[in-house]
Amino acid sequence: MTELTTELTEAGPVDWPRAPASFVRRGGRMTSAQRRWLEQSGARYLLPVSNWPRSTVIAPQPPLDQTAVFGRQADLVVELGSGQGEALAQAAARHPEVNYLGFEVFAAALAMTVGRLAAAGADHVRLVAGDGLQGLRHLLGEASCQEIWVFFPDPWPKARQRKRRLVAPPLIDLAASRLRLGGVLRLATDWTDYAAAMTALLDCDQRFRRLDQGRFADRPTTKYEARGLRQGRLITDLTFVRHDPAD
Ligand SMILES: C[S@@+](CC[C@H](N)C(=O)[O-])C[C@H]1O[C@@H](n2cnc3c(N)ncnc32)[C@H](O)[C@@H]1O
Repeated sequence: MTELTTELTEAGPVDWPRAPASFVRRGGRMTSAQRRWLEQSGARYLLPVSNWPRSTVIAPQPPLDQTAVFGRQADLVVELGSGQGEALAQAAARHPEVNYLGFEVFAAALAMTVGRLAAAGADHVRLVAGDGLQGLRHLLGEASCQEIWVFFPDPWPKARQRKRRLVAPPLIDLAASRLRLGGVLRLATDWTDYAAAMTALLDCDQRFRRLDQGRFADRPTTKYEARGLRQGRLITDLTFVRHDPAD
């Protein structure tokens, strides 16, 4: 039976499936350049929705108002575990008409993303220093996203760690709720058993249909893909479109 956790929301108590954290909090040690990027441009990109750096928890709160956050309404692409921000920065440069929101918990990676976005002058990207699963749940409304990306999620390869994997039923339920019909969930991993588990979960889910698209053109090679290739692992890109099960 799925364990539930109860959170008090404005609408009263709500039960959510309990998901073990997909990350381990790492020390907040940063280089002087990373600290400087955060000092100079952190306020421009980081949304003040968690108690970061003290905590990565995103508590129940009203969903983000896109117009207030980005100054406009546009298609919204959300990345969970955006790492050093390579994919966000590249996609933002290619698609100025889209709003981008990245969730990341690792301070040094967030600082590097802030530095990268500031150097590019990107003004349609925002970052949340917090748990992306909680962010999807509490900051984004139903059918509010055009795309959700999870690239090279931590693999948690040992059998006893698998329950920490981010791409699991709680994320899939949230993605189904937060994506609009026709919206897309994009996944990439260098672990074949994780790719098989993702495919198995989503192929039998009536709310998603797999598209045979191969590698996503807007996904740059990051150090995680490079390391996987170096170590002889196969890279799998998966694309699922959210559709109406009645169709
Ligand atoms: C292996 S790295 C991949 C980073 C990036 N997507 C890439 O392809 O280079 C996984 C990242 O996800 C972050 N992460 C893991 N679980 C998360 C969660 N629940 N919310 C936000 N970030 C998370 C980790 O801190 C880490 O930076």
